[in-house]
Amino acid sequence: MLTGNEIREKFIEFFMQKQHKHFESASLIPDDPTLLLTVAGMVPFKPYFLGQKEAPCPRVTTYQKCIRTNDLENVGRTARHHTFFEMLGNFSFGDYFKEESIMWSWEFVTEVLKIEKDRLWVTVFTTDDEAERIWIEKCNFPKERIVRMGESENWWSAGPTGSCGPCSEIHVDLGVEFGGDENSKIGDEGTDNRYLEIWNLVFTEWNRKEDGTLEPLPKKNIDTGAGVERIASVVQKKRNNFETDLLFPILEEAARITGRKYNENDNVNFSLKVITDHARAVTFLVNDGVIPSNEGRGYVLRRILRRAVRHGRLLGYTDLFMYKIVDKVVENFEKAYPELRKNIENIKKIVRIEEEKFSNTLDQGIQLVNQEIDNLLASGKNKLDGEISFKLYDTYGFPYELTEEIAEERGILVERTEFEAKMEEQKEKARSAREVVMEKGQDTFIEEFYDKYGVTKFTGYEKGQDKAKLLSIRELSDNKYLLIFDKTPFYAESGGQIGDTGKILGENFEARVLDTQKQKDIFFHTVEYIKGKAVIEREYDLIVDVLRRNDISKNHTATHLLHKALREVLGEHIQQAGSLVENDKLRFDFSHYEAVTAEQLEKVENIVNEKIREAITVGVSHHTMDEAKAMGATMLFGDKYGDVVRVVDIPGFSTELCGGVHVDNIGTIGMFKIISEGGIAAGVRRIEAKTGYGAYLYEKEEAQKIEAIAKKLKTNALDVVEKVDKLAETMREKERELESLKQKLANLESKSALMNMENINGAKVLLAKFTDKKAEDLRAMIDAIKDKEDRAVVVLASTLDDKIIFVAGVSKNLTDKVKAGDLVKKLAEATGGKGGGRPDFAQAGGKDIDKLVVAMKEVKDLLKEIL
Ligand code: ALA
Repeated sequence: MLTGNEIREKFIEFFMQKQHKHFESASLIPDDPTLLLTVAGMVPFKPYFLGQKEAPCPRVTTYQKCIRTNDLENVGRTARHHTFFEMLGNFSFGDYFKEESIMWSWEFVTEVLKIEKDRLWVTVFTTDDEAERIWIEKCNFPKERIVRMGESENWWSAGPTGSCGPCSEIHVDLGVEFGGDENSKIGDEGTDNRYLEIWNLVFTEWNRKEDGTLEPLPKKNIDTGAGVERIASVVQKKRNNFETDLLFPILEEAARITGRKYNENDNVNFSLKVITDHARAVTFLVNDGVIPSNEGRGYVLRRILRRAVRHGRLLGYTDLFMYKIVDKVVENFEKAYPELRKNIENIKKIVRIEEEKFSNTLDQGIQLVNQEIDNLLASGKNKLDGEISFKLYDTYGFPYELTEEIAEERGILVERTEFEAKMEEQKEKARSAREVVMEKGQDTFIEEFYDKYGVTKFTGYEKGQDKAKLLSIRELSDNKYLLIFDKTPFYAESGGQIGDTGKILGENFEARVLDTQKQKDIFFHTVEYIKGKAVIEREYDLIVDVLRRNDISKNHTATHLLHKALREVLGEHIQQAGSLVENDKLRFDFSHYEAVTAEQLEKVENIVNEKIREAITVGVSHHTMDEAKAMGATMLFGDKYGDVVRVVDIPGFSTELCGGVHVDNIGTIGMFKIISEGGIAAGVRRIEAKTGYGAYLYEKEEAQKIEAIAKKLKTNALDVVEKVDKLAETMREKERELESLKQKLANLESKSALMNMENINGAKVLLAKFTDKKAEDLRAMIDAIKDKEDRAVVVLASTLDDKIIFVAGVSKNLTDKVKAGDLVKKLAEATGGKGGGRPDFAQAGGKDIDKLVVAMKEVKDLLKEIL
C-alpha cells in the first residue's frame, strides 16, 4: 500500500525516467495577474503553453499545491471536495503529444499504482477519434469502457481565455456499492460517486481569444493533472479522501482537540472534515505569504479560516484550536514541502491572531443571524434581505458565506446578487467621493501622441540636465502648461517615487517645472511660465532640481535598506505593500500581523545605519526576469515587469527589481531615522523615516523641543531627565499627601456622620447627602462606619457633574430585613436612573437632582417601617 509521500515520489521518478525535469511546486500565489490563486498544476507554465516565453526545457513534471474555492460549501459534506489539494502533472511544451501522454499514464496507473485494469474507465472528447484509437490500439483498452463526453466534461481551460483543449480522463470504478448496477457506465444517473476521476490528460493545442474564437497554438502541448488525494484513496482502499494517510492524522488531531470522535454521527464527521481540510489550506496559504484581509486572496484565507472556526463551535468547542492543528499539518507535509517547518512559528502566530479576532465576533454574529432569521420566520417570511447580509458583513465582519450557510441550514433563502449590489453601492460611494484627476480626452490624446512620436526617452539615470526638443504643449490653466519633449532627465512619478521638479530654459524663455508624471512612458512636465512662451520644435535646456533629486535618491535607496532590515528583524514574511519616496521623507508599507515593538524598530534603524557606515557602492544592471530570479532579487507581487528588468543591488545585503533613482554609494545617505510606525489596515503596517538632510532637520527640531522643555524646567538640556525625575518624585509625594488628607477628611466626616446616626429599632441608620464626592469616597465612608457599627444601615448620596451617585451599606446581620440593593434601586428609580447590587453593599446612579431630597425621605420612611 503506497503512502501519500510514496505516491508523489513514484510519480516524479516515473516521469524523470521519461526525460522530464522535476520542478518544485510553485507558490499558491501565482505570478499571473489574471489569477488569484494557483488552481492547477499548469498555472506556473501558462506563458510556455501560450508561446509567450520559451520553455526552459521541453518536458517537466511536478507535484503542485493548488487551491480552489468555487465549491467551498461542499467541502466536508462529500468524500472528495477540498479547498487545498495537490496535483501531480507531466507537461510537454511543444514536445510529445497525445500518444505518449496516454501510454505513459496507462503505464503508471497499471504498473506503478497497480490498479486493476478491469476497474478502469476512460472518457474522451466527443470528436476525439484519435485519442480513442490510441487507447484501443496502444494500450489494448476495451472499447466498451471508453465513453465520449462533451465540452462540460472533456474540454479543459484555466479560464475563459487562454490555452485550452480537449481532454481524456481516467476513472476508477469503485463498485456497485457506490451506485448503479452491473450494467452501469460513466455518466449514468446515480453513479456520480461510483466512477472516480483520477487523472485528466489535456491536449492543449488551442488558444481561446477574447471574442470566444479558437486559434491554434504555435505548438501542441500536454498538460495533465492527477489528484494525489484521490489516488491515495484508491490505492489505500479508503472510502473517502479524509481517511487516507494524507489527511487522517489531521482529522484525528481535530477530533482529539475538540473532544469528539470520527463517525460519532454525520454532523460531527462533517465538521471534522471541514476543519481538517481548512487547517491544511490555511497552513499552506499563510506559508506562501497570504495574510487575512478583506480582499483578494486575503479574503479567501479569511473565509476558509472563519468557516473552520465556526465548525469548531458546531462541535461545541469554543477555545482556539486552528493554530494548534498547524503542527499536525506541518508534520504530515514537511517531507514534501520542507519550507513549512521553517515558517511554522510565523504560520501559527498569524492563524492564532486571526482566530482570536474572529472568535470574539463570531458568537455575536451567529446570534445576530439567528435573531434575524427568528424575526423572519415569526413574520412568515423565508428570505433574508441583502441589506441584512450586507450589514452583518459590513458592521460585524461576518462573512457573507457564513450568513448564507446558516440561513440555508435553517431553510432561509439569501440572494448573493442582493448582497453584491449593496457592496457595489458602497464602493460606488467611495469612488465618487474621490477626486477625478484624469482630464477628459486625455486618453485619446495619449494614443495619438504615441502613434506620432512614440515614448519619451528618459536620460535622468545618468544626467540631471539635458537638451531636448519640445514636441507638444497643452494649456492647463492660467500660465500653467503640460510640456512633452523627445527626451528628458526629469523622473516621472512611478514605483512610489515622486516626480522631479526643476526648470526649463530657452531663448527668451524660462519656466518652473512643478511636477513630472507619465502615461504609457510619455513624460508630462507640469510647468509654470516665468518668462516668454515655449515654442514647438525648439530646443530647451531641461534642468532638474538636483539637490531635491539627491534627497529623493537617498530616501529611495534607504527604502531598500529598510525593506531588507525589516526582513532580518521581523521575518521573511515581510512583503512590501506600498511605498512613497519623497524628498523630505519616505514611507514604507508592509505586511505584518502585529505592532512592531520599540526594540525591533531600534534594531531595524541600527541595521540600516550600520550599513550606511559601510559605504557600499550601489550596482544597477539589466537582466532577464529569469536571471533576476536567479540573483534572488525581491520582486513585488502584482508588478508587471517587462522581459528585461532593472536590478538595484546593494551587494551583500539587498537586491530588488526597481526602476527608481538611487544613490551611487549608500554612504551618501548619511543617516537614517525612523519617525513613526503604525497600523494602516488589518495586517499592514506603515513606517515613516527620514534620511540625510531631512533626518538632520528632524533631529534639530527634536533638540529644540528639548531645549524648550529644559528652559521651562529652569535647567539645561543635559540635566533635563534628572530634573523630570525629581519633578515626578515631588508629584508622587504630593499625591500621597493628598491621599492621606482625603482619608482624614473621610474619617472626620464619617465620625460626624456617626454622631448624627439615628437609632431606629436598635439599628444605627444614616442617610446623608454630599456634593462632589466620588463613589470611592462614599464607599470608604461606608466601610469606615461598618467597621465601627455592627448594626448599621448607611445610605449616602453625592451630586457630581449633574449626576447623582448612591451608595448603600447594610451590616450583615440586618440584611434579612433590609437589602442595600433594594435601597439604591428605589433611589435610582425615583431620580430617573438605574442600579442595584448585593444585600450588604450596592451602588447606583440617578439623574434628577431636584427629586433627591424627596427620594431620600421616602427611603427613610421605608426604613422606619421595615426595621
Ligand atoms: N489542468 C488540468 C486540470 O486541472 C490537468 O484538470
